[in-house]
Amino acid sequence: MNILAIESSCDETAVAIVQDGRRILSDVLHSQVSVHREYGGVVPEIASRQHMAHITRLYDEALAKAGCTLDEIDAIAVTCGPGLVGALLVGLHFAKGLALCAGKPLVGVHHLRAHVAAGYLAFEGLKPPFVALVASGGHSHIVHVADYTDFRVLGRTRDDAAGECFDKIGRVLGLPYPAGAPLDALAQTGNPASFAFPQVQFEDAPFDFSFSGVKTSVMQMIHNKNQRGEALPRADIAAAFNEAAAQVLASKLVRAALETGERTLLLSGGVGANSRLRTLLSERCAAENLALHLLPLPLCGDNAAMVGAQGYFELLAGHVCPLSLNAYPNLDIGHSFEKVCG
Ligand code: KG4
Ligand code: ZN
Repeated sequence: MNILAIESSCDETAVAIVQDGRRILSDVLHSQVSVHREYGGVVPEIASRQHMAHITRLYDEALAKAGCTLDEIDAIAVTCGPGLVGALLVGLHFAKGLALCAGKPLVGVHHLRAHVAAGYLAFEGLKPPFVALVASGGHSHIVHVADYTDFRVLGRTRDDAAGECFDKIGRVLGLPYPAGAPLDALAQTGNPASFAFPQVQFEDAPFDFSFSGVKTSVMQMIHNKNQRGEALPRADIAAAFNEAAAQVLASKLVRAALETGERTLLLSGGVGANSRLRTLLSERCAAENLALHLLPLPLCGDNAAMVGAQGYFELLAGHVCPLSLNAYPNLDIGHSFEKVCG
């Protein structure tokens, strides 16, 4: 079954064609990063307009690269939340237009479920149940993936997302937006033991995160050093923050596996590209004899192939949406089909 998938929840416009939820026939993407960089973050209206400018070309390219026509597509999948509402609406309406004119089923896909489904594209043998850490620019969740469309949230961030924290700290260190990857690179040249930044734990909710404390602590230290006219040890700060964030993310994912009894783990989302996090998780999972799945870097960040993978499994579960499907900026990963399409 061929699914044509569209992703436009933030600052990447992407279209892909995926066969049977596992095989990428084409996967094309336009990143708006260079447009938003001068503002230090995503400007929602510019994002929507950029999606409008590129989506038709990307749709043509995706079909051409896959060597198929719309007739050979079985369903249209589209991210319907969470994300920037104006950005989501561009992809959603494009998808609705295709579904309507070609008479194909429309499947609304949750963006974080899609990040998890990236695992099915990279690992043929990956099947639920497993535990996943989805850490991106807008979200940090530990989820129990009980089945392809059955997600239980074990923990989530109570304030900033992990990626948002990388971006904000990177910005004060003078790194370009999005700062996760450059901060990761800068951290390689610093000493992670030079500062001890907080690693927050909640006794009542062991899988919840809080990144605002570490962010404030790093920012205050930078501010104080600037006030005193001291040189900023940028690489050491990056390394110490990177270490604190990676430790907290890795320890909670491993604990989630041990407490649920799942032996299979997946790291996904843009922050899943973090080199220290990948190393730490690899070491801890090897020590506990757990099967860790680390995505290839292009599948960590936003793309449409992951939407096509999850769309396939939503379709198999009968989750076909009416053309009245809306965009949901705050949609929960554990949502029921009826919540979006009921
Ligand atoms: O999943 P994603 O592409 O988009 C969202 O759904 O938000 O994640 C983007 C986030 C950004 O905050 C970016 O700085 C972060 O992922 N990121 C990283 C790394 N590469 C990207 N964070 C830490 N280390 C990295 N190597
Ligand atoms: Zn994402």
